Amino acid sequence: MANSVSPSALPESAVLSEGRGPAVVLLHGFPLDRGMWASQVAAISARYRVHAIDTFGFGNCPLPGEGWGVESMADAVAAWAVARSIPTPLVVCGLSMGGYVALAFARRHANHLRALVLADTRAEPDSAAAMAARNAAIAVVEAHGSAAQVEAMLPKVLGATTHAHRPGVVSEFRRTGQSQDKAAVVAGLVALRDRPDARPGLAAINVPTLVVVGDEDTLTPPADAAALAAGVRGAKLVVLPGAGHLSNLETPDAFNAAVLDFLDGLGPQ
Ligand code: MLT
Repeated sequence: MANSVSPSALPESAVLSEGRGPAVVLLHGFPLDRGMWASQVAAISARYRVHAIDTFGFGNCPLPGEGWGVESMADAVAAWAVARSIPTPLVVCGLSMGGYVALAFARRHANHLRALVLADTRAEPDSAAAMAARNAAIAVVEAHGSAAQVEAMLPKVLGATTHAHRPGVVSEFRRTGQSQDKAAVVAGLVALRDRPDARPGLAAINVPTLVVVGDEDTLTPPADAAALAAGVRGAKLVVLPGAGHLSNLETPDAFNAAVLDFLDGLGPQ
């Protein structure tokens, strides 16, 4: 699949679209794919046109030969919407890595943005220590494959309640993460490591914004979510009990209720 797409062009295979109504784009976390949004697609598509998009290299989206970053992924989402005549502005909802892409979309394509949902994510770039950890992870994945990254993330990516009581979520994370191409996981780690600082752009966001976080999220904890919400004028913060970093998978009903309440409050497009 390598070298088959440009880092500015999303193929149709990368997008699952369901429902009718105003457009809502869902951007997944690392190292998963659009399948992580199955519960959200089912719930939200009752009233909205939901587009769950695979990031470059993940799921059904080929990996570009030239590499990608959160900004080129955001540009690709905007270009896809224009090329497919998707009515804009869009609601853009991203979790963790998807949140980094959503923040890049807000900076670069504000004219196409109706509202933002930022779940279990942060505006800060990687610290020097985090970059060093990404480089170590890249070496491990190159040597041992995607499964090594999945096992390394597993203790922290899901909350304590999920580890204790939701074995299906643990196996879904493991199965989906292990299914990703090794090259895609490496490219994803590079894109995460090299993402820009989103903090300077927060004050310029002038659309309704919902920040969601699991109260057991140790990767982007509630304090980070509170800082993110404080940086965006008028942003609402919702903390989901019993959820870790993958709050949409861990407590889907509460996640869906928070997002639908937010979407319904936006009024007619
Ligand atoms: C994710 O869930 O997308 C990752 O935890 C993001 C990151 O490692 O920065």
